[in-house]
Amino acid sequence: MRRPLRLLVLVSGSGSLLQALLDAQAAGALPVEVVAVGADRAGCAGLERAEAAGVPTFVEAVCAHADRTAWDAALAERVREHTPDLVVTAGFMKILGPATLGSATFLNTHPALLPSFPGAHGVRDALAHGVRVTGSTAHLVDAGVDTGPIIEQRVVEITDEDTQESLHERIKVVEREMLVDVVTAMATGGWRVEGRRCLVG
Ligand code: GAR
Repeated sequence: MRRPLRLLVLVSGSGSLLQALLDAQAAGALPVEVVAVGADRAGCAGLERAEAAGVPTFVEAVCAHADRTAWDAALAERVREHTPDLVVTAGFMKILGPATLGSATFLNTHPALLPSFPGAHGVRDALAHGVRVTGSTAHLVDAGVDTGPIIEQRVVEITDEDTQESLHERIKVVEREMLVDVVTAMATGGWRVEGRRCLVG
């Protein structure tokens, strides 16, 4: 039998995406082992969720290093220590540097339908633009900002009453399901990149 995929998760905030992975693993529905959770800030709720699940955690804050290059090298080392098969950036709000990107394969989910509305404010920007549908995108991480090969996208309709908060909450419901489905598919069937496409299974 194939061994469970070794998954490392990076968080910055509330960690509800991480929780979806932990819950699926605990339910036996996800053929992965979350081997560690890392954050770029101490005390975030995502770290507390990991600790509650008995998963080892680490913090690598940019401000603890002389510059971004030093932070990048330290984060790459932390990732390598855990020998993950896949790293999920689950609401991790820092751009990864070249050393970190070279240490593993990274999967990100973004709260918009890429290539529209990349960056840190995907929900706000979609709402401000007046689009009628948005959603979430699962993609591999490359050196750009939300530019890596797309694996899957799910759509969420925008209503006239939506605020940034209400829309983001509905996107996150869809995003959590999509993340569990994509990680399951990657763990079960593997993946390969062909140009702009990431083929899973
Ligand atoms: C998610 O919507 C994720 O896509 C977004 O942060 C949220 C994290 O939620 N990430 C980005 O915007 C990255 N550009 P969580 O902390 O509850 O898991």
